[in-house]
Amino acid sequence: MNAVLEARNLTLRYQNDLVFSNLSFTIKPREIVALIGKSGCGKSSLLSVAGALIKPSEGEMLFQGKPLNAPSPKIATVFQEPSLLPWLSVERNVSLALELKSMRAPKSERKKRTAEALSEVDLSGAAKKFPRELSGGMAQRAALARALARRAELALLDEPFSALDAITRKACQKLLKNLIRAHESSALIVTHDIDEALSLSDRTLLMRREANDYGALEEWDINARLTTNNVERDRRARFEYIDLREEISFRLEQN
Ligand SMILES: Nc1ncnc2c1ncn2[C@@H]1O[C@H](COP(=O)(O)OP(=O)(O)OP(=O)(O)O)[C@@H](O)[C@H]1O
Ligand SMILES: [Mg+2]
Repeated sequence: MNAVLEARNLTLRYQNDLVFSNLSFTIKPREIVALIGKSGCGKSSLLSVAGALIKPSEGEMLFQGKPLNAPSPKIATVFQEPSLLPWLSVERNVSLALELKSMRAPKSERKKRTAEALSEVDLSGAAKKFPRELSGGMAQRAALARALARRAELALLDEPFSALDAITRKACQKLLKNLIRAHESSALIVTHDIDEALSLSDRTLLMRREANDYGALEEWDINARLTTNNVERDRRARFEYIDLREEISFRLEQN
């Protein structure tokens, strides 16, 4: 199967500082890939390169088999801060994503898609509210709705839930996973939380920063390692989970 996103031998320098070099990875259709790594190793930078928000110093990005040299309307990005515009209602924040020139949809279509997206993240009742009137979880769900309304084929998410409390966070993770599956899209999600990576992803990539090995990616096939995702119910899966968690956390600490 063709990759949705393919990173080929990426190198990134800020002025003269090397962030990563010769880094390659792919994301297949309908796949959720998690990217973990210690603070400062270059995860956010890699995500920005992946979405063509910044240019790599060397190497190239391919999206659906074609070179990606500018941000695409088919790729949605969600950051740690929901980055809603404070002077617009939730509804307007979401529909604004559809007013971009590159994907200008007729008004009736925009209205319909906005309503659908808000309903999917359970925010229909908050459509007229302003960002300052939302809880952290609601704001982050509004940011997800904005990404959804665009019907993006790929979502790039940078620690989208890290500011949320544990319970809201779990709920948002579940929501994200269901949405990506339901829309048959793909996602790359940056996190520093191994449990988030394990519960969300099909594959987890570990980014490191070592003196002679900048940005090498180690990889775990989560689906192949866990019999079921239902760790609460399945005793065997529980052991597999603990085992895998230990293994990844050991590698993460080593770097
Ligand atoms: N715009 C920039 N200009 C110069 N250096 C930068 C810039 N953005 C990031 N860096 C540097 O690049 C390195 C990687 O930063 P990046 O934000 O990608 O790391 P990260 O893995 O996302 O960290 P965190 O987990 O803390 O978010 C850091 O050393 C950082 O100081
Ligand atoms: Mg970061």
